[in-house]
Amino acid sequence: MTALGWSVLVLGSVAFGGLLSCSDPVLDDAIDAQGNETAEIPQGPLHRAGQPCVVCHQEGGPAADFPFTVAGTIFAQPARQIGVDGAEVRMTDADGTKHTAKTNCVGNFFVKPDEWAPKFPILVEVAKGNLRRSMRSPIGREPSCAGCHVPQIPVSDPASQVSHIYLFAGDEPGFPEGALDCAVDPKRPGSP
Ligand code: HEC
Ligand code: HEC
Repeated sequence: MTALGWSVLVLGSVAFGGLLSCSDPVLDDAIDAQGNETAEIPQGPLHRAGQPCVVCHQEGGPAADFPFTVAGTIFAQPARQIGVDGAEVRMTDADGTKHTAKTNCVGNFFVKPDEWAPKFPILVEVAKGNLRRSMRSPIGREPSCAGCHVPQIPVSDPASQVSHIYLFAGDEPGFPEGALDCAVDPKRPGSP
C-alpha cells in the first residue's frame, strides 16, 4: 500500500473512532454539574426545577430522545424559589414567529421542536393575570433560561438581575405559596 493509502486509512479510523465515542467533555461536565435526581421527584415534567434543562434535553445529552428548543422555570418570589403554576412564557423569534408556553405546578415549562423551533435571537416576557415582566435584551442562542438565570441557595442577592426568574416582586395580595394540588412540593428543594 502507498503512503497515501495508509494515511487515508489512519485518518479514516480516527474520524470513525471519534464518532463512536461521541463524547464532548464540556457537555459531560455541564451534565455532571446538575447532580443526581431529587428523591421522590420522578424524571419528567416536574423534575429539576431551576436547572438548565437543555443541557440534558438535547442531542448528546442523557435525555436526547426528548429534546427541547427552549425551557426553564418561573418562580414566584425573589428570595425563595416557589414555582408559579400557569404562568405564560411568551416568546418571539428572529423571524417574528410567536409561541406561548405555560408553566406547570413547579414553574417548569418546555418547548418541543415540533411545537416551535425558533430562530434565535428570541425575545421573552413572562405573565400571569395582570402581572407581566419582560426581559429587555434578546436571548442570543442559549436555550435554557437557567443558562443565565441561576438560582442561588441561599439567595445572596435577590436584586441581581440574573438570579432565578421571579414573577412577583414581594407581597402582593394572593402572594403564592405554590399550587396545593401539585404532585411534588412546588418549593424547589433547598429553597428557604
Ligand atoms: C441532568 C439532566 C437533566 C436535566 C438538567 C433535566 N432533565 Fe428532564 N429528563 C432527564 C432524563 C434523563 C429524562 C428521562 C429521559 C428518558 O426517559 O429517556 C428526563 C425526562 C424529562 C421529561 C419526560 C420526557 C418524556 O416525554 O417522557 C420531561 C418533560 C423533562 N425531563 C423536563 C425537564 C425540564 C422542564 C427540565 C428543566 C427544568 C429538565 N427536564 C431538566 C434529564 C434531565
Ligand atoms: C443569555 C442569558 C439569558 C438567558 C438565556 C435568559 N435570560 Fe432573562 N435576563 C437576562 C439578563 C441579563 C436580564 C436583565 C436585563 C434584561 O432585562 O435584559 C434578564 C432579565 C429577564 C427578565 C426581567 C427580570 C425583571 O424583573 O426585570 C425576565 C422576566 C427574564 N429575563 C426571563 C427569561 C426567560 C423566561 C428566559 C428563558 C426563556 C430567559 N430570561 C433567559 C439574561 C438571560
